[in-house]
Amino acid sequence: MFLFTSCQVGAETIFKTEIRRLFPDFRLSFSRPGFLTFKVPDHLTPDAIANFVNRSVFARTVARSLGKINLENKEIGKNEPETEIKKTETLTQLAKKIWTIAETNRIFVNRIHVFRRDLLPPGEKGFEPSLTPELQMLHRILIEHSPKPKFLGIHHNNPNYPAQPNETILTVSEIDLGYYFIGVHLISEGLPIHSYYPGGILPIVLPDDAVSRAWLKFEEGIRWSDFPISQGDCCLDIGAAPGGGSQVLLSRGAKVLGVDPAEMNPIILNHPNFTHIRNKINQTKRSLYRNVDWIIADINVAPNYTLDVLEEPATRKDIPLRGMLFTLKLFQWSLVEHLPTYIERLRSWGFDEVRVKQLVFNRQELMVAARRCR
Ligand SMILES: C[S@@+](CC[C@H](N)C(=O)[O-])C[C@H]1O[C@@H](n2cnc3c(N)ncnc32)[C@H](O)[C@@H]1O
Repeated sequence: MFLFTSCQVGAETIFKTEIRRLFPDFRLSFSRPGFLTFKVPDHLTPDAIANFVNRSVFARTVARSLGKINLENKEIGKNEPETEIKKTETLTQLAKKIWTIAETNRIFVNRIHVFRRDLLPPGEKGFEPSLTPELQMLHRILIEHSPKPKFLGIHHNNPNYPAQPNETILTVSEIDLGYYFIGVHLISEGLPIHSYYPGGILPIVLPDDAVSRAWLKFEEGIRWSDFPISQGDCCLDIGAAPGGGSQVLLSRGAKVLGVDPAEMNPIILNHPNFTHIRNKINQTKRSLYRNVDWIIADINVAPNYTLDVLEEPATRKDIPLRGMLFTLKLFQWSLVEHLPTYIERLRSWGFDEVRVKQLVFNRQELMVAARRCR
């Protein structure tokens, strides 16, 4: 049995190290930037496969491989109008091959996910992970050619509509133009939100009025952490400038105290629910942030220092703090080795739920969600 899985471009080596540690009996097989396949023990259950994304910091999605398709014809990626008909023909030919693989493997499909491996790290040369128009077209053609009534489960034309628990997903991953891996995975209860979307990529697009790219990672972070930040909650944003993270909180109706010696974007600065404390957090009067429900932090320092900064507000008894969502900058990938120590430190401050993930819109950094459940 083979699994395929995807991650951020650049994170492959550290991802392989993580897999060797978590799953010593997995054997690396084919790989490309952002895409890895493993030979795994045959007895692995669909639930254990699905849970792989939960256990891994770097995995975005996973599927049991059913086969691959290599089309001679590479017309799919071309955009000239005269090749449109050719493109439809090629995708139809591809869709038929995919359904043959699903039928041969006797897969009852509830939903189809299509995604392409990333070609660049997020944020580089304007690239952000998302569904290409060709893959949206492939999704539509796959539905049109589904061998009904056997595959009646497919009920959504929107390729980004989130999957539901207990659905079986047929996944098509484009590796290069004309080259595809076909796989299947189950949506078990309790999986991270990423498992519900094609390629583990939440369909989040930077709005025109976003004041920084950090908007993307905090929007994704709040959805992933499921922190119920809402109207009137009081949030402390450490390292707030220019204000993308604060903007995400403000859009949920929260009141935000942004601490940063740097300048805030005027859109944020002039928001009635935003207060700027123009200073470093360690030089800020403690009494200014007494009623904080949530902390977000995004400061460009080593992970240990981020934790040093967070320790004071996180351990104060007079703050009704419920959770913290913050980035850990991986100036070297090897810092990941210290993750167990960081998590232990957070737990010792009373955070009983600590989760760490390299989110799709994180660059060389991790997102941590630490929550007090009791
Ligand atoms: C990556 S930027 C933050 C981006 C921001 N979160 C956003 O959403 O737009 C890092 C910021 O951390 C700030 N910073 C660094 N050390 C800090 C500290 N000790 N206290 C407060 N801010 C700090 C820097 O001034 C810088 O503006």
